[in-house]
Amino acid sequence: MKNKIIAAAVIMAMAFGLCSCKEYHPDTSDDSSGAIWTGGDFDGSGFRPTKPISTEPNPASANGSTNSENSEPIDEPYVDPFEEPDTSSDIPIGETIRIKNGEEYVAKSGETMVLSGTSEIEEGGSLTIGSGAELLVYGDLNLNGTLEIGGEMSIAKNASISGSGRIIVEDSFDQINCDGYVTAEIVPPNPIEVDGVTYVGGVLVANKMYSLPEDYGSGLSGELCAALDEMHNGTGYSFLIMSGFRSYEVQKNLFWSYVEYDGYDNAITYSAYPGTSEHQTGLAVDLGWVDEQYAYTEEGMWLAKNCQDYGFIIRYPQGKQHITGYIYEPWHVRYLGKSTAKLVHDSGLTLEEFLRVEG
Ligand code: DAL
Ligand code: ZN
Repeated sequence: MKNKIIAAAVIMAMAFGLCSCKEYHPDTSDDSSGAIWTGGDFDGSGFRPTKPISTEPNPASANGSTNSENSEPIDEPYVDPFEEPDTSSDIPIGETIRIKNGEEYVAKSGETMVLSGTSEIEEGGSLTIGSGAELLVYGDLNLNGTLEIGGEMSIAKNASISGSGRIIVEDSFDQINCDGYVTAEIVPPNPIEVDGVTYVGGVLVANKMYSLPEDYGSGLSGELCAALDEMHNGTGYSFLIMSGFRSYEVQKNLFWSYVEYDGYDNAITYSAYPGTSEHQTGLAVDLGWVDEQYAYTEEGMWLAKNCQDYGFIIRYPQGKQHITGYIYEPWHVRYLGKSTAKLVHDSGLTLEEFLRVEG
């Protein structure tokens, strides 16, 4: 029965002219003055704690260098005259850190911190990458405390951030460039609404709880199309677009056709109420075969395993209807860009859970 419904859906989608994106389809187509942190291929720009901090060089450090061995010019850290200085150990240089319970580091604007060894932020410890500062992670960071990103963070391929701690994203997921593997919890900024559209950390949200203005959207995103091309060229799979951009009007006709055919209670589990479809955002497409069997095709299996590397996620995963509001749709992918798609995928969460919004 479901197959029939979905087949009918495809036919209706075609009839409504939903494959409107053929034109996009792949087939048709030194600040060394403050340097106390160096490491790896780092150029000498530095990171400065706001107060003296007790840290220990990590034994896993690649070269075990310390301040005293460093020939780079070093600023004295700021000392709060009202606070007892903690002088219990040397401040380590470069590629590793260990931040203990109660210790707080802040990298300030213009400063870059590079971690290429194995580092740790213990429970109760915190590192803040302030606005205009940068953290480059080339190694493994065991995060059990807090890492707050107000500036930028890059996580290189083969690098990781794991542990029971939290990464707090102050403004936007664009602040993170992730090529590595993050399993630590990521705390997004609160949702904001701009011209009737809701964003969390720059990620547009369209679901049963967050609708779009009727006049929103004008076509598929160029970035999405480029990513689809890249995916097609890299694999040889066709990734035929069964449905791309759908305007409010098109979604309205489609939804009410399903209701007529299958009843409201069924339709609402696989078709979005007008104004709530991701297809209206231009950031989602249905690929290959609008049927659950697509998940068992070679192309569908490849898509499920690898699409995050090209900036997509399977938006409505199996067994998550109670969160996303929709049945399993192995064909419907949402474009988020490579870094954010990888973060969402590696979190194992649905987009609703990752962004902490209701579905
Ligand atoms: N099939 C998805 C939920 C949509 O209609 O947008
Ligand atoms: Zn879809």
